[in-house]
Amino acid sequence: MPITDKERDAIYKVIFNRRDVRGEYRPDPIPDEVLERVLLAAHNAPSVGFMQPWDFVVVKNNETKQKLKAAFEQAHAEAADMFDGEKRALYQSLKLEGILEAPVGICVTCDRSRSGKVVIGRTANPEMDLYSSVCAVQNLWLAARAENLGMGWVSIIHHDELKRILNIPEHIVPVAYLCLGYVDFFHETPELEAVGWLPRLDMRSLVHYESWDNQPEDFKTE
Ligand SMILES: Cc1cc2nc3c(=O)[nH]c(=O)nc-3n(C[C@H](O)[C@H](O)[C@H](O)COP(=O)(O)O)c2cc1C
Repeated sequence: MPITDKERDAIYKVIFNRRDVRGEYRPDPIPDEVLERVLLAAHNAPSVGFMQPWDFVVVKNNETKQKLKAAFEQAHAEAADMFDGEKRALYQSLKLEGILEAPVGICVTCDRSRSGKVVIGRTANPEMDLYSSVCAVQNLWLAARAENLGMGWVSIIHHDELKRILNIPEHIVPVAYLCLGYVDFFHETPELEAVGWLPRLDMRSLVHYESWDNQPEDFKTE
């Protein structure tokens, strides 16, 4: 089934206008059918050997969110100590999660034992199952944007804490904790770029032709 030009443009619009959302969540609930659509998009991600290693723990309970926020605060304080001087001050000024404000949280996990020991495609590189769950996260992120829902990835939480708070079994690996909700607005550029944390790299500087050492003249590093 070919994609029309209009459909192609819509996909690129979603890709270029997706943002990591932290501070602009509205309290409006997400209708069940919308939540189901974005979860179904996540579930249709590619996965190594079609093992579909993900599960989704949907969090709406405020008490649970409070516990997750406390876990974030702890990891965030530890992180601040890892930066020096001005970077530390800037880091501490950043809002890096919307756990309490977002109406829905979703923990995406990976069951590394889901389809037995030997999985097609995971034989040479065992981490492929984790990458598959990350593909589900990205599908969810783009589907959310297409629904005008903001989404933010909160990685500043120790996974052991995430497992304890959400009763995730020992053999399951947490991959992402995501905040989800309607927003006041989407930032036009990544917030970390806007505050001067890092610039967006020039895509052409990252492309190598045939061999790592072959890049266009103007991007040669030596
Ligand atoms: C694996 C991963 C983990 C991330 N963890 C966090 C996080 O803990 N807190 C946060 O504010 N943003 C987090 N982000 C969002 C990035 O900071 C963001 O994607 C990047 O700055 C580019 O901005 P954009 O997503 O708005 O384009 C994470 C993104 C990824 C892919």
